[in-house]
Amino acid sequence: EKSVGILGIGSYVPEKIVTNKDLEKILDTSDEWIVDRTGIRERRIAEAGEATSDLATKAAEKALLDAGVSAEEIDIIIVATVTPDMLFPSVACLVQNNLKAIKAAAFDITAVCTGFMYGLVMGSAFIKSGTYKKVLVIGAETLSKITDWTDRNTAILFGDGAGAAVLGETSPGVGILGVDLGADGTGGDLLKVPAGGSKQPASAETISNNLHFIHMNGNEVFKFAVKVMGETAIKALENANLSPADVTYLVPHQANTRIIQSAAKRLALPMEKVLVNIDKYGNTSAASIPIALDEGIKSGRIKNGDILVLVGFGGGLTWGASVIKW
Ligand code: ACO
Repeated sequence: EKSVGILGIGSYVPEKIVTNKDLEKILDTSDEWIVDRTGIRERRIAEAGEATSDLATKAAEKALLDAGVSAEEIDIIIVATVTPDMLFPSVACLVQNNLKAIKAAAFDITAVCTGFMYGLVMGSAFIKSGTYKKVLVIGAETLSKITDWTDRNTAILFGDGAGAAVLGETSPGVGILGVDLGADGTGGDLLKVPAGGSKQPASAETISNNLHFIHMNGNEVFKFAVKVMGETAIKALENANLSPADVTYLVPHQANTRIIQSAAKRLALPMEKVLVNIDKYGNTSAASIPIALDEGIKSGRIKNGDILVLVGFGGGLTWGASVIKW
């Protein structure tokens, strides 16, 4: 079987920084509460008119450069997002045009914060099957655009950003060694944007009832996340014939420091082996794992031969993990 790995990676976050102190001015909250309960200190927020495809394109350009692969070589573009520029065309098609990736097929996937994990599995399957040689997988979000800035339960959590990876064939024994994906639709109500789709099309009523924003049952999502992060990581490790003791770094979805800490504890990993950047970006949904991975690599923390476990969870409910030998 072919070995598939990440040939290059890149990320981009908007320039505008919004601190917890800034949020104190518009919400009944405090820097202390937010840091203590979530670990978040600041987040990046896109400008008006700055869309998900803009962030995705910038991250993709960096990933292509890093991989030494040209846009024309890309066979397919997969964008994981729940904040597309519009319902259609897909963000992937907008990125295809921006990059002039003329040969590439393009589509979006919806797996919320697990989107990048789903994209990695799909992308590597295309290469393993021989269908395609070079795949661009992007996780990109502007959650600020679907955040209710009057709701302190959610507004403190989210940020905007994008991360991209170019996948291709690698030497045997290197690259993606094992994966796990899952979903539990019974938990769909815990995290959703209720309106704007076919169930409740946009109307004056859906707008006045705030139904185009993220609605979340934070406590239930928290419990689900703590349980599933460890489970899916262990399954992916088993599929790679490895155990938690073999892991050099855990690269978790950045939703809450306390969720990350309990996942690390379940895997018996000290926090030195966990990449955390939630303090700077908040929860960027599908973008958080590739941004953390990119920072881990560019900072020199991640080295050749390291065993990485990428792990995420999110709305759907969904979850997934991927074990990579770097
Ligand atoms: N500032 C101050 N107080 C607040 C704030 C705030 N921003 N938000 C809530 N509170 C209050 C609550 O009103 C509550 O007060 P009460 O006891 O008087 O009712 C109190 O703080 C405790 O609230 P809890 O909800 O119990 O706080 P908790 O410790 O559970 O933290 C949080 C809430 C941070 C949302 C947590 O539940 C969490 O992180 N959940 C997971 C969320 C998540 O990961 N979602 C994204 C999934 S990824 C995706 O797919 C997009």
